[in-house]
Amino acid sequence: MAQLWGGRFTKETDDLVYRFNASIGFDQKFYKQDIEGSIAHVKMLKKTGILTEKEASDIEKCLGEILSDVENKRLEISDKYEDIHSFVEATLIDRLGDTGKKLHTGRSRNDQVALDMRLFTREEIKETEGLLKDLLVVIYNIMDANLDTIMPGFTHLQKAQPITLAHHMGAYFEMFKRDRSRLKDILERMNYCPLGSGALAGTTYPLDREYTAELLGFYGPTLNSIDGVSDRDYLIEFLSALSIIMMHLSRFSEEIIIWNSNEYQFVEIDDAYSTGSSIMPQKKNPDIAELVRGKTGRVYGALMSLLTTMKAIPLAYNKDMQEDKELSFDAFDTAKGCIALFTGMLKTISFNKDRMYASASGGFTNATDAADYLVNHGVPFRDAHGIIGELVLYCINKNCSIEDLTIAELKSISDVFEEDIYDAISMETCVNKRLTIGAPGKEAMQKVLAIYREEIK
Ligand code: ARG
Repeated sequence: MAQLWGGRFTKETDDLVYRFNASIGFDQKFYKQDIEGSIAHVKMLKKTGILTEKEASDIEKCLGEILSDVENKRLEISDKYEDIHSFVEATLIDRLGDTGKKLHTGRSRNDQVALDMRLFTREEIKETEGLLKDLLVVIYNIMDANLDTIMPGFTHLQKAQPITLAHHMGAYFEMFKRDRSRLKDILERMNYCPLGSGALAGTTYPLDREYTAELLGFYGPTLNSIDGVSDRDYLIEFLSALSIIMMHLSRFSEEIIIWNSNEYQFVEIDDAYSTGSSIMPQKKNPDIAELVRGKTGRVYGALMSLLTTMKAIPLAYNKDMQEDKELSFDAFDTAKGCIALFTGMLKTISFNKDRMYASASGGFTNATDAADYLVNHGVPFRDAHGIIGELVLYCINKNCSIEDLTIAELKSISDVFEEDIYDAISMETCVNKRLTIGAPGKEAMQKVLAIYREEIK
């Protein structure tokens, strides 16, 4: 056991208490941020004259050595310390003697941990944003190559109207584009430095908080020291953004699983991204998509956990807040892993265009267009809807599609039909006549792709 405190205690900490309280097992993950934060703090102490040039330079140099020793595995982070802050400070004092004891001047572990977690999360947000961009590029490329690939669009998982694969993929492009912009928003809001908040009430030293903030790449210092040590909103926002990303990935995974099923066969997942069965030799399973779908709950769990942890904490710092770390770290890694693997799976997937086309052609996906044909020939829409309904029933009984009927059969239901009906309800016409922005028609999609190119530049 090695603690930074103890002066006012008459007994050793109970061993179980010590272990229950300690966070070194997980907060060592941000040793780098802890040391970088300390280096910025000490530079500020030098600038303000709170420490002498020599003291500050010695501390700074020694902190740099500790960082490189940890990175090069010359120094092991030992769990005999309570947390990463104690480990770094104790190591500094070991190496530097009394000068090392001055590092913590004008600082508390409360503002220190608030800073470390913020620095760590800021990096994670940026990495996640980069991974989303890779995913957007893959989706864009699929779109670009499939402006003419006709497939059925669904509502209620029933065939509805013909669309293209580019159009379907575009829906996911929109989702992940919003996810990316959410991350950028969070970065904007969270990029303020809590260091200098002290335990909760600032300090009596003339700290230059603007300077520390600048050194660490923040826009400026946080403006209330109580909030500075007790705010975890940015983390909740990020977990919430990650939950939405996972929800999107999970929906996408669900579709890939359905499309990959023996019944659909719209796609084939690459062998490198599939797994087999120990008993059934014929099986090739979409485990990656299933795992992504499955891991979604874990990320939601981290969000619910932190919301619950924070909901009744009186101001300012309370030890409950140590619980902000483990599940968040798990959620960060889970979401990043899922985005990266999903991207790889999507990049290597193959689309069975013939199956998609055949599927779009069956199931009366052109019924709306047949009704629109009648409307264009003067029939009121509600009447047209009724006539085509009758026509569909006729086809169901005959087990055929609308376009399989002869002109005589069509005319027996409505004499408005002429030869040009066949062209008006072909899959290609159904898709390419939909030209309002956002619709699947090729020219509309090309305009959208031009906008998307900017997004992934
Ligand atoms: N391990 C603590 C945490 O993660 C660091 C802050 C400790 N502060 C305190 N007053 N005990 O929140």
